[in-house]
Formats: sequence, structure tokens, C-alpha cells
Amino acid sequence: MEILVSIRNKTNSVLYNKIVKPVCFMYDAEQVHNFFTKTGKFLGDHALTKKTISTLFNYQNKKLELNILGIKFRNPVGLSAGFDKNAELISIMEDVGFGFVEVGSITALPCEGNSGKRVDRIIDKKSLWVNFGLNNNGVKEITNRLEKERFNIPYGISVAKTNSKETVDPEIGINDYVSSLKESKNVGDYYTLNISCPNSYGGQPFVDPQLYESLLREVHELKIKKPVFVKLSPDLTKKHIDKLLQISMKHKINGFICTNLTKKHNLGKGGLSGKIVQKKSNELIKYIYKKTKGKYIIIGVGGIFSAEDAYKKIKAGASLVQLITGMIYEGPGLISNINYNLVKLLERDRYNNISEAIGVSNY
Ligand SMILES: Cc1cc2nc3c(=O)[nH]c(=O)nc-3n(C[C@H](O)[C@H](O)[C@H](O)COP(=O)(O)O)c2cc1C
Repeated sequence: MEILVSIRNKTNSVLYNKIVKPVCFMYDAEQVHNFFTKTGKFLGDHALTKKTISTLFNYQNKKLELNILGIKFRNPVGLSAGFDKNAELISIMEDVGFGFVEVGSITALPCEGNSGKRVDRIIDKKSLWVNFGLNNNGVKEITNRLEKERFNIPYGISVAKTNSKETVDPEIGINDYVSSLKESKNVGDYYTLNISCPNSYGGQPFVDPQLYESLLREVHELKIKKPVFVKLSPDLTKKHIDKLLQISMKHKINGFICTNLTKKHNLGKGGLSGKIVQKKSNELIKYIYKKTKGKYIIIGVGGIFSAEDAYKKIKAGASLVQLITGMIYEGPGLISNINYNLVKLLERDRYNNISEAIGVSNY
């Protein structure tokens, strides 16, 4: 059985790299993304197509199962926020083999996002340039739909403030987060407060410690029953991170997502994903894990292209990992490939379960 999975995964990888990717990369990245979103939604809506995709891609193994903050994950590999902005792909992503999906980022009001070119490939850097500006259908439409749906994997709701002039006012910005959290209280398994979007109006006001504290105070008041994560930027100094950690300790924050896109580049606006954020993300995971003695759950994201990349983040302190860019460059078969090879790495290191590897490179 295992050998068949290995052959299938290698075939998927060759087909993607030799045929699908060269064709897709001839077209505009956003157009390709829209095409795959429509296709994925269709495939996820029918039992027969779901079964077919599952046979072609899915791989699960008991050694990868985890229970984090009361949520059962069948494997630690999740789809990061920004790929499924309107929560239309959870159904098909469970057949592709993901352990969980983070939808959004969702905002209180529907938002068209920024104008002009919004995403591009930087092939030699294995990176994507992103300037979407939080386009999504708004919390009402999305959660009304999700309330009627059931999935076999957990999913998180990434919440950001609506990308508009008005929400630059901190009070309006906080109310924007709060109304999304209230509106979506019946859906999803965890929340992420996205305070690190690099391409929305007015920048990232809530990375400012004082405003961060005001936001967390209001969120705390809501007495949310689900775990709450904060998504951090890879561009903050250690001193700045220390301040945010101190504030997080006072409020009900269960963990951190390390990291969002980096703004440190010379392409003007927008942020970069992929290989460029890999090292920064790994360093931040390690730093927070050590500094807080493993008190917080860390979700590691940024530049995962292989099982070794995912394992490195887990050994640095991440309990779960997420990706987007790796899937664009290596295809949907990457998820099964990572999970399959993670099991091999666990066996090599004589661990019975992935949870035993979390944070080990810190000791
Ligand atoms: C096209 C695209 C859109 C994104 N949109 C969001 C978003 O809406 N919210 C968010 O928190 N992160 C967003 N991100 C950041 C990713 O979730 C992730 O943190 C980052 O891309 C690093 O992971 P990767 O290297 O595996 O892509 C986006 C990334 C990409 C590539």
C-alpha cells in the first residue's frame, strides 16, 4: 500500500511539473487562481468527484494525528489564509489531503480589494508577490453559507479589518474585527486575528502595542469559546515581538501564526511569500517557543516546499503548519507528499507520533 502511495505521489509530481505548471504559468496568476477556485468548488460539491480526488491525492496516517486545544487534526498540514478567501474550497481540500483549512481573511464588509495587478510569480525566488488587499464577500454572506455546511476536517476563520479609509480610525477598525467575530460565532473551529496584512489601507495599525492591547481587550470581552490565534508579521524586531507577547499574556490568546508575507523587498507595494519568508518564519517560531517555554500553540507558515521544511518548523516549536506557495510551485500532490515523508522522518527519528517532535530542536 505504502509503495503505491509513493508511486502515485511521484507520478502526480511529474505530471504537475511537466504539464500542468508550464501551462498555468503561461497565464495571469489571478486568472489561474480564479479558474482553480471555480473548479475546486465544483469538485467539492459532488460525491463522485470528491471520491476521485481523494483516490488521486489523499494520504493519512495515525502517526500524524494530533489533538490541539481540543480540536482533532488528522495531520498537521493546513491550507494557509488567502487561498480560500470566501470559504468555498474546504470540501475539496479535505480530499486533497489537508489536515485543516484556514479561510479568509474575512472582513466585516464585503471588499473588492486593491485595483490593478494583485498577484504575480517570482519564479527564481520560489515566491509570490501579493497585493490583493483582502478581497472577500464579507462575513455575513460567508458565514450564512458555512452555517449550512459540514466538513470532515477542522477549519479556522481568519479575521481582518475591512480594507477601507474608514477603518483606519482605530475605534472603527476594532469594531470591524469585533462585528466579524460576533457574526461568525457559529462557524469554524478557531479564529485568527490577522493584524499583519501588508497590503491594506493604512498599513498594519494593530501591530502597535497600544492599539494591539485595545484590540485584544475588546476581543477578550467577547468571551469567545474557540481558540484565538494572532497572525504575526515576519518583519518585526525581537523587542517588538516581546511587547506583543507581554500583552498577549494578559488576554485570551491561545497561539500565534508565524508568519504572514514580508514587506521587506524592493518591489514597492505588496508583500512576498514563499522561500523568502522561510528563514524569518523559522526564526520567529523558535524565538516564541523558547521565550514562552512552549506555552503557546504555534502554527508555522512560510516557504514550505517539502516534508523536511515542515519538519524543521515542527521541531522548532510549531504544532501545526500551513502553506500556499509550495502548492502553487509543486502542485496539490505536495500535501500527500509532505504527510507521507513526515511519517518517514518520524520513523527515522523513532517517534511514534508527530506531537513528540514539537519543539525538540530547542532542547
Ligand atoms: C495569494 C496570497 C494571498 C494571501 N492572503 C492572505 C490573507 O488574506 N490573510 C492572511 O492572513 N494571509 C494571507 N496570505 C499569507 C499566507 O497565508 C502565508 O502566511 C504566506 O503566504 C506564507 O506562506 P507560504 O510561503 O506557504 O505562501 C496570502 C498569501 C498569498 C500567497
